[in-house]
Amino acid sequence: MPEIIIVKNEAEAGDIYGRCVADLIKAKPNAVLGLATGSSPLAAYRSLARIVKDESIDVSQVQGFALDEYIGLPLIHPESYHATIHRTVVEPLGLDPAKVHVPGDVLNGTPLEDGAKIASAGPAYDAAIEAAGGIDVQILGIGTDGHVGFNEPGSSLASGTRVKTLAEQTRIDNARFFDNDINQVPTHCITQGIGTIMKARHLVLLAFGSGKAEAIEETVEGGVSAFCPASALQMHPHATIIVDEEAASRLRHKDYYRYAYTHKPAWQGI
Ligand code: GLP
Repeated sequence: MPEIIIVKNEAEAGDIYGRCVADLIKAKPNAVLGLATGSSPLAAYRSLARIVKDESIDVSQVQGFALDEYIGLPLIHPESYHATIHRTVVEPLGLDPAKVHVPGDVLNGTPLEDGAKIASAGPAYDAAIEAAGGIDVQILGIGTDGHVGFNEPGSSLASGTRVKTLAEQTRIDNARFFDNDINQVPTHCITQGIGTIMKARHLVLLAFGSGKAEAIEETVEGGVSAFCPASALQMHPHATIIVDEEAASRLRHKDYYRYAYTHKPAWQGI
């Protein structure tokens, strides 16, 4: 069962992540960070960047692996996750771009029809994560349908990195990045699988706003099911879910989660 932390706002959640990862990098300069796109992690990256600067932390050895990428977008497309991760993480944190990887890096706009090239990219990505020593902390957002990365409802909970078809709802949700035109949103993606994500040593999922309340309820208090891929976090030995009041609004046991976190010894961290 993940630890649930209910915070006032995204900035407070960001500071919890920032402190956790800054301490990790101090202890392990070549830490491997699992990175995510979307709006939910932005305050967390900002907080980490601030701490890294204030405390002069050396991040030159830090490695990064992003969760997912659209199929068919060239790397230089501003909405490719390659470009997004470089804009929101690599540059503000001052990471070495050569040490930060996105699953579609080798594809760079390769069309879906090029099966041989596309099919081999997933297993190669999982092998690269293993070779780097595995992910220490994986940050996650959540889709309104409970997806993590781009593992849509129905995804195998044991899956590795592979090509998936995006759900219509996800394309509608993400059309805001493509001139509000769903036709510009790619139909397919390559994403770390749930099995890949579950191998990370610590998972930190962030969700804010009432639009995420139902997905959080299913993730935390529903059954473990491929129909809510994020519910796999219930099976992870070290998962932390940080939510604001709106995203927590449907949780039946929120008083207990609040009580447990308030009484947690500081030395435990998250
Ligand atoms: C996309 C990404 C997910 C992300 C989700 C939610 O679908 N592939 O990794 O969690 O969007 O995005 P947001 O945080 O903007 O709500």
